[in-house]
Amino acid sequence: MAWSPQSWRSKPICQVPVYPDAAALEAVETRLKRHPPLVFAGEARNLKAGLAQVTEGKAFLLQGGDCAESFAEFHPDNIRDTFRVLLQMAVVLTFAAGMPVVKVGRIAGQFAKPRSDDFETRGGVTLPSYRGDNINGIEFTPQSRTPDPRRLMEAYAQAAATLNLLRAFATGGYADLHNVHRWMLGFIADSPAGEQYKGLAQRISEALDFMAACGVTSASVPQLRSTDFYTSHEALFLGFEQAMTRVDSTSGDWYDTSAHMLWIGDRTRQLDGAHVEFCRGIRNPLGLKCGPGLSEDELVRLLGALNPENKPGRLTLICRFGADKVAEKLPRLIRAVEREGAKVVWSCDPMHGNTVKSGTGYKTRPFDRILKETKTFFDVHRAEGTHAGGVHFEMTGQNVTECLGGAQAIVEEDLRKRYHTHCDPRLNASQVLELAFLMAENLREERMKVAGLAASA
Ligand code: PEP
Ligand code: CO
Repeated sequence: MAWSPQSWRSKPICQVPVYPDAAALEAVETRLKRHPPLVFAGEARNLKAGLAQVTEGKAFLLQGGDCAESFAEFHPDNIRDTFRVLLQMAVVLTFAAGMPVVKVGRIAGQFAKPRSDDFETRGGVTLPSYRGDNINGIEFTPQSRTPDPRRLMEAYAQAAATLNLLRAFATGGYADLHNVHRWMLGFIADSPAGEQYKGLAQRISEALDFMAACGVTSASVPQLRSTDFYTSHEALFLGFEQAMTRVDSTSGDWYDTSAHMLWIGDRTRQLDGAHVEFCRGIRNPLGLKCGPGLSEDELVRLLGALNPENKPGRLTLICRFGADKVAEKLPRLIRAVEREGAKVVWSCDPMHGNTVKSGTGYKTRPFDRILKETKTFFDVHRAEGTHAGGVHFEMTGQNVTECLGGAQAIVEEDLRKRYHTHCDPRLNASQVLELAFLMAENLREERMKVAGLAASA
C-alpha cells in the first residue's frame, strides 16, 4: 500500500480535537510546512544506531521528561534542571552498566495528550477535555477549551527554543564529565540518593584525574566534554507531524523532523488506524507503547507493519503494564518477539500502568509500585535471557510533590503543596535518582551474569 505523509488521512483515527474553523487549522499547517526542521535526519539515524546497540545488549536507553510540556512552565531553568537530572541518571547507569547510555528527552515537543474522555463535566458544565497546550488551554472555560490552531505555532516556537538550549548544554561545556559534581540539584544534595551520587561523582573525578595524568583530557577526547542528547514525543496530533515531515536530501527518505524519535501511544496503536499508518512511513526510530490490552498476535502484526525489514534500532517497545500485571504480561510478549526473531529495544515505562486517585482527589503514582514494576521488568528479562534495554519515565528536575513515597516520604497531604503537572504526576529529581541507583544494581547484576557466561563458555 502506497504511503505518503498524508495517507493517514484516509484511515480511521482516534483522539482528534474538533476545531471550529477547519480553514484556520489548514492555514497554520501550511505555514508550518515552510518552517525549518527541528532536527536533522542524520541525527535521527545516529539515534537509530545507538538504539541498535541497545538491541544487541551493548547499551542502555534512558528516556524521560514531562508528561506534558506547558506554555506556563516554559523557562530555561526548567529545561536545565530536566537536562541535568537526566545527565546524573545517565552517569549512575553508565558507571554501573559499563555501557553507553542513550539519552532521549520527552521534551521540545511533548505537548499533545490522549484523553480517556472527549469531554469533562464540572458542576453541571460540560466542555471539551484538555488535550495539551498545543491544542487548547487547561483552564475550564469554553474559550480556553476550544481548540485554537495558533497554539501549534507557539508549540513549534517553544520546541525550537528548547532544542536550541539543549544543544548548547549538550555540546557547549555544561555536559563535560568534569562537571559531574556540579550537576547536583540543591534540594537533593542531602537525600540518601544525593549522598550516594556524591560518592560516585568522587570516584569519577578520581578516574578523570588519573586519565588526565595519562594525557587523556576533555581537550584530547571530545566524548568527555560533550554528550549526545535526543528529543522525542508522542506522534499524536498528526496534522503537525505531517507538516514537519520532509524528504531527507542525503538519503531521499521521509523523516518527521519534529523530533528524533516518535512514539505511538497505547490508545492509538490500532493496526489499521491513522497513527500506525503515519509512523510506518517515516524513517525515525519509533516507540510503541505496549499496555496490558496488547495481545501477542497484535504485537506481531504491528512489528510487521512498523519494522518490516527488521532493522535493529527502528523499534522500541515501551512496556507499561502496571506493577501487578507486568510479571504475567511481559514474558508472553518477549516470547512472541523471540519466536519471530524480531529485533527490538525493550523499555520499561513504570508510570502509566500505576496511576491512582489519592484520597484527597489528586491523580498520583505510588513510588513503591513504580519501583516494583521496574524491578520486575529486570527480573523477567533476566529469567528470559533477554536484555532489559531501557526505561521511560515521566519526571522533572523540579522539587514537585506529585508521586507518593520515595526517600522524602511524600504522603497524601503533601500532594497539594507542589502539584504542578498539566497531565500525569511526575517523579521529582530525588525520586528519579533513587530509581537510577536501583536500576544500576540490576544492570550490574546483568553485567556479572553475562561476564560469568562468557567466562564459563
Ligand atoms: C504518555 O506517555 O504520556 C501516555 C499517554 O502514555 P500511554 O500511551 O502509554 O498511556
Ligand atoms: Co503521561
